[in-house]
Amino acid sequence: MTVENVLHVKGNNIWSVAPEATVFDAIKIMAEKNIGALLVMQKEKVVGIFSERDYARKIVLKGESSHTTAVKDVMTSEILFVNPEQTIEECMALMTSKYIRHLPVLANGKLVGLISIGDVVKAIISEHEYTIKLLENYITGSR
Ligand SMILES: NC(=O)c1ccc[n+]([C@@H]2O[C@H](COP(=O)([O-])OP(=O)(O)OC[C@H]3O[C@@H](n4cnc5c(N)ncnc54)[C@H](O)[C@@H]3O)[C@@H](O)[C@H]2O)c1
Repeated sequence: MTVENVLHVKGNNIWSVAPEATVFDAIKIMAEKNIGALLVMQKEKVVGIFSERDYARKIVLKGESSHTTAVKDVMTSEILFVNPEQTIEECMALMTSKYIRHLPVLANGKLVGLISIGDVVKAIISEHEYTIKLLENYITGSR
């Protein structure tokens, strides 16, 4: 299964926030959309990612105010991208080795979606279920 397959099911929606937005506004969007991260976009360009982890570690733990801190001051600037042709197993390996939970997807330099660790786990489980079904059918001789 590829990233493209996952996006086909999940959709190409991308939730984002401007670098100058306050952390409070970003958290509000994340709560409304029920998501754990927002891409930080300057016009068409991805300049960072802001996640619940950034909030917990850079705002809550440090006693900073979410109302006066801009997203750009606490976002993560190093972003790893994947392309639609990459496999879900490659994404899982990347997420596990780099300790990240969200991967934006670029196709020919254009942002086409975002996948999370939950999307990847769900895809891997359904792949395994399919394999088990095939093996069961093979063993029992049914179709
Ligand atoms: N049943 C499902 O289809 C499904 C899929 C993914 C996650 N989940 C559940 O959601 C919970 C948290 O998931 P998570 O840790 O993977 O992260 P998450 O809460 O950030 O992601 C939840 C969903 O929102 C999407 N999403 C997140 N940020 C986005 C953004 N900025 N733009 C566009 N889409 C965005 C993800 O791709 C994922 O489909 C877990 O309990 C997980 O099991 C369920």
